[in-house]
Amino acid sequence: MLNGCAGPPALDSSPSTLALQPLFPVALGQVQLRPDPLDLALQIQALHELRGDACSNPDPDCAWTGDLNGVWRLHEHPTFAPLIEELSGHAHRYLAQLGFEPARVALHIQRCWPVLSEPGQVVGRHHHPNAHLSAVYYFNGDGSGHSGCLRFFPHSQPNELVPGLAVGHGGPIASPDPWNQPWVDVAPRAGLLLLFPSRLDHAVLPNDDPDDVRCSLSIDFALSAPFSSVVDAPPEYLAPHPSQWSAVSAR
Ligand SMILES: [Fe+2]
Repeated sequence: MLNGCAGPPALDSSPSTLALQPLFPVALGQVQLRPDPLDLALQIQALHELRGDACSNPDPDCAWTGDLNGVWRLHEHPTFAPLIEELSGHAHRYLAQLGFEPARVALHIQRCWPVLSEPGQVVGRHHHPNAHLSAVYYFNGDGSGHSGCLRFFPHSQPNELVPGLAVGHGGPIASPDPWNQPWVDVAPRAGLLLLFPSRLDHAVLPNDDPDDVRCSLSIDFALSAPFSSVVDAPPEYLAPHPSQWSAVSAR
């Protein structure tokens, strides 16, 4: 593909074969890190200490999330700062793979918070309108999904042709069908990092492991222009560097 022009599908031995070409895919970044088991144990212990006596949000079916409980700057916590610096490096690589020129964009951590799910707890469907790029890192999970998958939802279902067919009951679309997936589930695994656009709706399914608390952290990143001299105006649509903003006080 060049300059947005979709080329013809690859020819095969049967010229009458219909080919489907995926357009506009969402970029889900995945990195499987190999954390030291002792570091993991210390981090999980610290997460439980940060949660304290609370264990929900506050509905007993909802996981405890640090962003709503005053624990939203894990990147400044000595136990987590080196890890989050490593995760942020992968966020830079995610941007590079999307075509961003490193010298023309600055990446900022807005907030970083833990999420702890007791057995049966969930996180409802939501997105992060305050941020541009979001990340989730798992401290535990065996890849089976028993502790609660992260479920991603598409912005729209253009291939269902008739709105609602992909999630309705008794419809004519066979399930599962890769062109009309109503969601995609990703199973937690210790050391797995996910990166995705903050506007993408997602939810956490119930933790079905009766013996373990599902532990993860989330990061919200914001993009801005790099610090600029007065004559070098930031590009259109990209906010100027936050250090060049001016707070306006109420009068
Ligand atoms: Fe989220």
